[in-house]
Amino acid sequence: MRKKIVAGNWKMNKTFEEAEELLTALAENLDDNKMKCEVVVCPPSVYLELASDFADESALQVGGQNASNHESGAYTGEISASMLESMDVDYCIIGHSERRKYYGETDNLLAEKANALLDHDILPIFCCGEVIEEREKEIHFEVVKKQLTNGIFHLSEDEFQNVVIAYEPVWAIGTGLTASPDQAQEIHAFIRGLVADKYNNEIAENTSILYGGSCNAGNAKELFSQADVDGGLIGGASLKADEFLKIADSF
Ligand code: PGA
Repeated sequence: MRKKIVAGNWKMNKTFEEAEELLTALAENLDDNKMKCEVVVCPPSVYLELASDFADESALQVGGQNASNHESGAYTGEISASMLESMDVDYCIIGHSERRKYYGETDNLLAEKANALLDHDILPIFCCGEVIEEREKEIHFEVVKKQLTNGIFHLSEDEFQNVVIAYEPVWAIGTGLTASPDQAQEIHAFIRGLVADKYNNEIAENTSILYGGSCNAGNAKELFSQADVDGGLIGGASLKADEFLKIADSF
C-alpha cells in the first residue's frame, strides 16, 4: 500500500543539544495511534545514533541525508550504507539538489548509491526536480524523466518497491516559493505515469511520491490533498517541532 510520509531534512543545522531538544519534542508529541503518516527525521549523520535512540522509544523513523556509493575503504569523510544500517537507519535521502549542485553528484553516481542502500535494507528517498531555467523553458518533464531513468529505473521490480521519490523543484527549495498544488499534482501524476510505464500500474500506485520545496504548516494541507502527493520532504520547517508536527498532521 502507498505510504504517506513526512520527512524532515535538517540539512547542516543544529548543535548536539539543539538536536536532542528537537528530537525530544518530536518523540514526546507523536502519538502512535493518531499518526496520519510515517514521520521521519533526517539529521546530520553525527546525530543519527541519537535519533535512532529516540526512534527506539517512539514512533519516529530515522533517515540519513547521504550515503557513499562504496561499500567501505579509503574514502575519507564518507559514510557507507552498511554504517547506516548498523545504526538502524530506515531511510536515506539521495540526489538532493544541494548534493547535485555543490558536490557534483550525477544520476549515474546516484544509481550506485541507490544500489548500495538497497543492499543494506535502507529505503532510498530519491530526489528529482528542475531548476528555474528548465521550468521556464518548459522542459521540466524531460528533466525529471531523465533523472529518474538514469538514477533509479535500472532497479528490478522488487527493488523499486522500496524506493520513495521526492519531487523538489529547485526554485522552490529554501526560497519561500512553493509549487502550486496544481503544479505539484501535474508533475507527481507524470512521475507516477513514468513508474507505471517502466514497471506496472500496481507498483506505480504503491510508490510514495513526496513534494519538497518551501512546504510548511500553512500550505501542507492543500499540497497533501492532491491525489498524487503522498507527503513531503521538509527542510526549513522541519527544524521547529511545532511546525513539523503540524505538517505531519496535514493529511
Ligand atoms: P525547504 O527545503 O523546505 O527548506 O524548501 C526542502 C528540501 O531541500 O528538502
